[in-house]
Amino acid sequence: MGDDPAYDGLSKRPSMQASLNQHGTELARARQGDGDVCCYHWFEYCSGRPLLESASSPPRVAASCETQSFHGDPMPPCAAVETLEPPMRESLRDRWLADAAAEHASIAAFARQTLELVALGAPADLLADSQRASLEEIEHASACYAMARRFDPQGRSLGPGPLSTPGVRPSAWAQLVADTFVEGCVAETIAALRAERALRDCTDEPTRALLSRIADDESRHAALAWRTVAWALRSGGETAKHALLAAAHEFARGLPAATAASPDHDDRLRAFGILDRSAERRVWIDGWTEIVEPMLRALVGPRSRDADQGSSTCSVSSVSSA
Ligand SMILES: [Fe+2]
Ligand SMILES: [Fe+2]
Repeated sequence: MGDDPAYDGLSKRPSMQASLNQHGTELARARQGDGDVCCYHWFEYCSGRPLLESASSPPRVAASCETQSFHGDPMPPCAAVETLEPPMRESLRDRWLADAAAEHASIAAFARQTLELVALGAPADLLADSQRASLEEIEHASACYAMARRFDPQGRSLGPGPLSTPGVRPSAWAQLVADTFVEGCVAETIAALRAERALRDCTDEPTRALLSRIADDESRHAALAWRTVAWALRSGGETAKHALLAAAHEFARGLPAATAASPDHDDRLRAFGILDRSAERRVWIDGWTEIVEPMLRALVGPRSRDADQGSSTCSVSSVSSA
């Protein structure tokens, strides 16, 4: 596997990266008595809420297939796309397919979140916003599959195959807080910031429209996650707070390191809204240090009332020009 240049992490999906989760690995090896077990932090939660079975498992996504089920709005022919050589079109198609699969998985992730909120007696506004977010993820997925079709050299209509969905997790405040933090507060923030950053050099109008929509919606989904965590902390007390801080600590340990810009990244990819690996990592680092960590401090520190107003303080645009 190490000899395969296509790997950067443990998946061939173009947006997937991973790093060793040392603490999780130590715990798993002690628990299982198996010195070969390894756990990883996965960095692919950039296109919506990830569908995770556990904090150390890779996000679940459906394989793509030829289908009319998620065709989205048709896009008019575009000379800038038609003149791209097939390998470039395939590269762009595959990036959008990866995003589309992640958006599609977010539908299930929000559906599961709604059930978990109901189980803990969540208020109506959180339930309604969770349901709305699930519908928005359907629109994101459809639009991303439509974008994949636009770049596919054969113009095929692509969509998701079956997706094996994990069950509802144990109904407990600590569980809800930790899961919502990782999947919503972090991942949806990263997704919004990633879309904002991709807009910087993007000159393709249909792509700009979709990225703008995704940035707005994912930012709102991140704010919903912070509101959910704030609500759960009020009910869950110290146990929930400790679970939140443990999840944050573990996540911070696995943040990717910054790397130099990728010299072989084709400028045409940037023009079509595709970030290189260096920029992708920068999104994670900046999203964590400039948005998530300050929000976390506000939530569990003396200024907790500020963070309680998640929708007004969780701002991606404030760091998107960094
Ligand atoms: Fe989302
Ligand atoms: Fe989304």
